[in-house]
Amino acid sequence: MKTFFVALLTLAASALATPIVAENKLVSRQYESQGDEIDQLTALVRTHTANINATTAAVQDSPNLEQQNAAAAALAPDLNAITAALQAATTTIAKRAWQEKVARTGTPCPKDCLFIKVQILVWEIACTIKFIIIKLGLACVLHLLTPLLLALVGLVKALDKVVLGLLIVVKGLLTTVLGAVGGLLLGLIIW
Ligand SMILES: *[C@@H]1O[C@H](CO)[C@@H](O)[C@H](O)[C@H]1NC(C)=O
Repeated sequence: MKTFFVALLTLAASALATPIVAENKLVSRQYESQGDEIDQLTALVRTHTANINATTAAVQDSPNLEQQNAAAAALAPDLNAITAALQAATTTIAKRAWQEKVARTGTPCPKDCLFIKVQILVWEIACTIKFIIIKLGLACVLHLLTPLLLALVGLVKALDKVVLGLLIVVKGLLTTVLGAVGGLLLGLIIW
């Protein structure tokens, strides 16, 4: 998080220092910075999904209700940490005044990069959620997964203003991964 803010401050400082003639260069740097932020977020999320996977894998097959609830309680800190990280990233992104400008520049590579980075993040979260649901069922973790998924969609919605069409792709991705096991969960999202 600290590097996150340092990067933002650096960005703000460079924005002030950059003459208007270098605008294109600046825009592409902002893109890179946003990509970096998604990379950092994904790295942070992976530390939690690694814990979640280990905790989930340790649960015996066909757990009884008590074991399900115990596992859900053990998963809660990591799931909540992912939710909080997604919300924090959304707040940061929503504050950007330069979003539209970035969306209008036709530089294909950075856009593709951000597009792919976000899908990697979504894929990591969706596959981990699927693993949890297959092992534990949805009922005991619904109260943890609902805010997490809403936070993920919130972030994607904010980024959809930068990378047009992202939300549709993510919706398809979540439906593909979670459709069979988490239909109820997906039904709670207003797209
Ligand atoms: C956690 O498990 C899911 C599902 O198997 C996988 O897609 C994901 O990459 C794993 N994450 C880590 C950090 O090992």
